[in-house]
Amino acid sequence: MTSRPLIIAPSVLAADLGRIEQEAERIKASGAEWVHIDVMDGHFVPNISFGTNMVRTLRKVMGDVTLDVHLMIEQPDRYARDFVEAGADCLNVHLEARHTLARTLDHIREMGCRAGLAINPPTLIKHAIPLLPKIQQLLLMTVNPGFGGQAFLPEVLPKIREAQEVILRQNYDVDITVDGGIGEETARPCVSAGANILVAGTALFRQPDLTRAVAHLRSVASAATVSG
Ligand code: DX5
Ligand code: ZN
Repeated sequence: MTSRPLIIAPSVLAADLGRIEQEAERIKASGAEWVHIDVMDGHFVPNISFGTNMVRTLRKVMGDVTLDVHLMIEQPDRYARDFVEAGADCLNVHLEARHTLARTLDHIREMGCRAGLAINPPTLIKHAIPLLPKIQQLLLMTVNPGFGGQAFLPEVLPKIREAQEVILRQNYDVDITVDGGIGEETARPCVSAGANILVAGTALFRQPDLTRAVAHLRSVASAATVSG
C-alpha cells in the first residue's frame, strides 16, 4: 500500500473517438484527476492510435485535468518537444524503445514536464532502478502494450511490490502507475502492492455513467489503501 494520493486516469483510447470533444467534457466532469493518452506508432507496438492533435484537442477542453501522455513509440526523444508544446503535463517513455533513455528523461524534465518511465510486463524492475532519480512516475504495464481491453496480468504484482520497496527505501519521489486491465477487481491488489495512479480504459468507458464509474473505482481502490 502507498501513502501517495490516489489518482484515477481514464484512458481516452477506450472513449468514443468519433465524438472526442463531448467525451473530453464527460471526462472533465467525471472527477478524474488525470486523463491518459495512448500514443502508438505501429512500430514499437503493432497498433496506430493518435498523436499531438489529440493532445492539443484535449488540452483545449480539459482545464486543470493533468494530461498523462504514454508514448508507445520508437525514438520518443524526437517527438517529446512536440507533445510538450501540444499541452502534455507528463510524458511516459518506454525503457524498451530505441533512444538514449537518461538523456530523453532529462530533456522531458528540462521542458517543465513530468518524466515517466514505462516498462513492459517481461522487463525486470532492476533495469528501471538506475533511472528512478530521474523520474516522477514509473508506469508498470499490466498488459502487453498496444491494445485496450486486454486481461490484467497478475504476474506484474510482485514487480509493483519490488518497485515500491526500492522507492521507499531510497526515499525517491516517484509515483507508481499501473496500466492495462485495471478495474474494480484488479485495482485493489495493485494499490495494496504500492500503485497510486490507476489508468483504466474499458472498465470505465463501458459503463454508461462515467462519473459513477470513476467514483466507484476510487472507493474500491481507497479501501485497499486503508486495509493494505
Ligand atoms: C495499452 C494502453 C492502455 C490501455 C488501457 O497499450 O497503454 O493505456 O488504454 O486500456 P484498458 O484499461 O482497456 O486495458
Ligand atoms: Zn497507456
